[in-house]
Amino acid sequence: MFTATALSGSPEERWTSLVEQARGLLHGERDRIANAANLSALAYHALSQVNWLGFYFFDGKELVVGPFQGHPACVRIALDRGVCGAAARTRQTHVVPDVEAFPGHIPCDSASRSEVVVPLIKDGALIGVFDIDSPVLARFQPEDVAGLEALAAVYLESL
Ligand code: SME
Repeated sequence: MFTATALSGSPEERWTSLVEQARGLLHGERDRIANAANLSALAYHALSQVNWLGFYFFDGKELVVGPFQGHPACVRIALDRGVCGAAARTRQTHVVPDVEAFPGHIPCDSASRSEVVVPLIKDGALIGVFDIDSPVLARFQPEDVAGLEALAAVYLESL
C-alpha cells in the first residue's frame, strides 16, 4: 500500500519529494483514469492553499472534466474558452496570478483567485490539461509552476 509522506524542507526539497512520491504512486499502473485520480488526491492533500486540482481530457473536440479534488466543476470546456482552453490550444503552461484579470476565465469555483494550467502532450498529441486553482492571489511561484509541470510529466510518463 502507498503511504504519502509529509513534505518538509525548502520549497524545492518539498517539490522533489512530492514528485518522487507521485512517481512511486503511479509506478506499474498505466490506466489514465486511475493515475489521474491518485495523482490528484496525492497533490491536493500535499499542497497548501489549493481549492481545486485535477484533469480535463481532450475528447478530440473539447476538454471534458476527469478525476479531480475540489468542488464539482464545469464538465466541458471548448478550446477557445478559459485558461484551460488557452493552455490546450497553445500547448503552453498558463500561470494566472489573478483570474479576474484573465479575459475569458471560467469561474468553476468562485473561491479561485489564481490558477495554473499545464497542457498534457504525449507523442505530439493533446491528451488534456492539468489544472490547479488557489483561493490566494498569486499563489504560484516559479518553483511551484516547475513542480506542477514535473507532476504532469510523471503522469504522462505513466501512460
Ligand atoms: N478556471 C478554468 C476552468 C476550470 S476550473 O478552474 C476547475 C478556466 O478558466 O479554464
